[in-house]
Amino acid sequence: MFLLIQLVLTVLVFISQEHKAISAYVPPYTSVVAPVNKHTDAAMPLYSVQIMTSYTNMQYNRANFLIDIDAPFIWHDCILQWNIHPGSCPNNTLCTYPVSCEEYQCTDVRTTYSYKNPSCPPVTNSSTLPGWGYCTCPVNVVNPITRLCDQALLNYDDFTMNTCDGRNALNGYYGANPNAACANSSSFGSFPSSVTGVMAFSSSPYSLLAYLYQPLKKSLALCFPSTTSTPGVVFVGSGPYYFLPQSNVDIKSLLSYTPLLKHPDSFGYFIGVNSIVIKQRSIEIPMNAITKLSTIEPYTTLRSDIYNRVIWLFSIYAVGIPRARPVAPFGLCFRTFRQIVLKVPDIDLVMSNGNKWTISTANSMKQVTKDVACLAFIDGGVTTEHAIVIGTLQFEDNFLEFDLENMTFGFSNSLLRRQTSCANFNFTLTNSP
Ligand SMILES: *[C@@H]1O[C@H](CO)[C@@H](O)[C@H](O)[C@H]1NC(C)=O
Ligand SMILES: *[C@@H]1O[C@H](CO)[C@@H](O)[C@H](O)[C@H]1NC(C)=O
Ligand SMILES: *[C@@H]1O[C@H](CO)[C@@H](O)[C@H](O)[C@H]1NC(C)=O
Ligand SMILES: *[C@@H]1O[C@H](CO)[C@@H](O)[C@H](O)[C@H]1NC(C)=O
Ligand SMILES: *[C@@H]1O[C@H](CO)[C@@H](O)[C@H](O)[C@H]1NC(C)=O
Repeated sequence: MFLLIQLVLTVLVFISQEHKAISAYVPPYTSVVAPVNKHTDAAMPLYSVQIMTSYTNMQYNRANFLIDIDAPFIWHDCILQWNIHPGSCPNNTLCTYPVSCEEYQCTDVRTTYSYKNPSCPPVTNSSTLPGWGYCTCPVNVVNPITRLCDQALLNYDDFTMNTCDGRNALNGYYGANPNAACANSSSFGSFPSSVTGVMAFSSSPYSLLAYLYQPLKKSLALCFPSTTSTPGVVFVGSGPYYFLPQSNVDIKSLLSYTPLLKHPDSFGYFIGVNSIVIKQRSIEIPMNAITKLSTIEPYTTLRSDIYNRVIWLFSIYAVGIPRARPVAPFGLCFRTFRQIVLKVPDIDLVMSNGNKWTISTANSMKQVTKDVACLAFIDGGVTTEHAIVIGTLQFEDNFLEFDLENMTFGFSNSLLRRQTSCANFNFTLTNSP
């Protein structure tokens, strides 16, 4: 009997140790990381993420993808090849494997996760590839800059990012194999010159986020740079996040949260803003109004009723600053002398739970010429689809976290007030332990 108990105990101890050994494995990374570049050579400022797309001649090739938190799926400049072998892909071209029109993903993307634009022509199955016995899967894409329709072919793609411990990019790689789509090079004519694709960071099951698995948390952190000279950063996964020169401040600890809302017919992200406050005076936002976040729109757009009240209140507190004639698309502009930063009030977006996203001068004023700066909020008209659309100027040097597991949106307010910026992540590769 004693022996039996001893045996059972031994087995139990063994099992529990085994269990401990398994649960004790902690990967050396908490996220994957990639640089974010600002581009000013297109019709509006745009931001791209740099991803490793293929491996040739012993090194990774990189491509810049426009960051789009609305896009249903990823698409970029590539071609389809069904039998890719070394040397078969034309030089300066990215080759990927085709999805056939008979595969499940083809119907799924075309019916449920397509771009919703009634002006796109219906897709047909006619195209094929030399030597491949199936039809390819054409899908419609909508150019986020021109809003025009285009066609692309669904593929099996292969993307790689560096792993990250929150302090440095690590020497380890993380691969993802999304179904993306290949479009013709000519489709990217309106894009910044070094950008050749659209990265879907939306809540769609064909967004890149859907293809990143354990141990990575389904959470996207964006930190857009304010200049073209030094990149900002995107993380997918969980914190911590450290920016130079502060090696002891986890940016995650600076975040305020508000629930992330879903909106029918959109893969994008929405939040509830209850009021806009300037110097303790509050503009109530109608209950049914929803606020959308956009990584494409350059400035925050307000429905006319809200816009007029914001402009009125802002001008009261900016009464001492000489006005300049408005420069389109802005409605309220000021004279600046040698680009000295204007003393204008902060604009607080007060969330449904009371947390405040403070928009400070760097994010509210746009220097349009040497002598003129404008309030970077624009009038969206009387009947806009969304009462408020927060645009990219308001994102710059703010750390933003879209947590799809908890459905929360985290925001840091301007990092400049914390003596750091989105351009301060240390990308120096470090060996993963
Ligand atoms: C493609 O590049 C390789 C290596 O740089 C070169 O040897 C080859 O001639 C190139 N082919 C064409 C068609 O330009
Ligand atoms: C394309 O072909 C597939 C498989 O034969 C079929 O299920 C699908 O309905 C076709 N789609 C179109 C748009 O013709
Ligand atoms: C790509 O676009 C160019 C220019 O519009 C056109 O000549 C070419 O046929 C297109 N290629 C494909 C594969 O559609
Ligand atoms: C997210 O949810 C998990 C589990 O409910 C919780 O442990 C964690 O603290 C939450 N994180 C945030 C940032 O709210
Ligand atoms: C960036 O990280 C590397 C590797 O950990 C470190 O050697 C370097 O000092 C860091 N850069 C700065 C400016 O702290």
